[in-house]
Amino acid sequence: FIHRYEPATKAGSPPLLLLHGTGGDENDLLGLGEMIAPGSALLSPRGRVLEHGMPRFFRRLAEGVFDEEDVRRRALELGEFVADARKQYGIGAPVAVGFSNGANIAAALLLLKPDVLAGAILLRAMVPLSDPPKANLAGKPVLLLSGQSDPIVPATNSAGLAALLSEAGARVEHKVLPAGHQLSQADVTLARSWIGSVE
Ligand code: MLT
Repeated sequence: FIHRYEPATKAGSPPLLLLHGTGGDENDLLGLGEMIAPGSALLSPRGRVLEHGMPRFFRRLAEGVFDEEDVRRRALELGEFVADARKQYGIGAPVAVGFSNGANIAAALLLLKPDVLAGAILLRAMVPLSDPPKANLAGKPVLLLSGQSDPIVPATNSAGLAALLSEAGARVEHKVLPAGHQLSQADVTLARSWIGSVE
């Protein structure tokens, strides 16, 4: 993966794996990462799938309709990238911070390779796989922030994701914000205090 890496400037803060939305890149979420966890190491890959020139983390057939074979393949590929980067940079298991398509690949990674992530902040995520394997997410902290009027993610879908992760044992906190698909100041504030509480 093409990526950016910013080393930690503060000891003891968890590394973040930043996963951008459709059309974003490895630079997009560095500012958000710094706001959520000042001083944390930041690992920020660029999605390797292009949709009309826009980087993403997996193929989709239509908005909200995923090529699930590709979701699985790309999630495993991302998991290998994280393992290699951890060796290269000498960091622990990261907490994913994913927005939209980046949140969806983070959710897939949690379900397919639970050991890769120490936890996850999923911003505007959806259920990434219709028939996920039985994952063991025992105690893994997950913050799921959804938008009440998100035109891409129906409320039933984000509730379904929260249920799926909880059933797998994750410690899920799900909040529905007065927002659409875009991020709001509340996302930053909530993510920041959540990560402070799980550190
Ligand atoms: C996706 O494709 O992952 C979702 O539709 C979110 C998006 O990227 O717009």
